[in-house]
Amino acid sequence: MAKFTLPLNSIVKKGKTYSDVNKSENMLTVEVYRYNPDNKSNPYTDTYLLNKENFGPMALDVLIYIKSKIDPTLTFRRSCREGICGSCSMNINGTNTLACLKPLQNENEVNIFPLPHMKVIKDLVPDMNEFYEQYKSIKPWLKNTKKGGKENRQSPDERKKLDG
Ligand code: FES
Repeated sequence: MAKFTLPLNSIVKKGKTYSDVNKSENMLTVEVYRYNPDNKSNPYTDTYLLNKENFGPMALDVLIYIKSKIDPTLTFRRSCREGICGSCSMNINGTNTLACLKPLQNENEVNIFPLPHMKVIKDLVPDMNEFYEQYKSIKPWLKNTKKGGKENRQSPDERKKLDG
């Protein structure tokens, strides 16, 4: 019979539980994927029992709160905080989304994982190298066929076609 050995990072174990709430408070239970390849151990999920009064309405506010008040080792990317840059992309409650645009006020529980099908560098940070290689290979940008590389001026009439 064939024997298979699963790679270390394919089995997610249960991590620690942190709490900053009394049971009576407006509580949010947050489960967060944790992985540090330097530890040579399985990934795990930590659970945070948090008082919703302590942070803003979005998933990114929760992660920033956890990092600054509970666990500074939590690692994630973010930049613009307004849905422009895409650096806070992650999987929240089973949906790939932007943490800075994902409201959690009406949730009691939330699971936060890195984007699926990508190698994880640490915690919620995926390795983007393969994405950029694929992006370069399909060249999804407009190519100027004119010689000289000059800018293409737009007339007021051409601009009007874009209005509305
Ligand atoms: Fe830029 Fe979320 S931080 S899209």
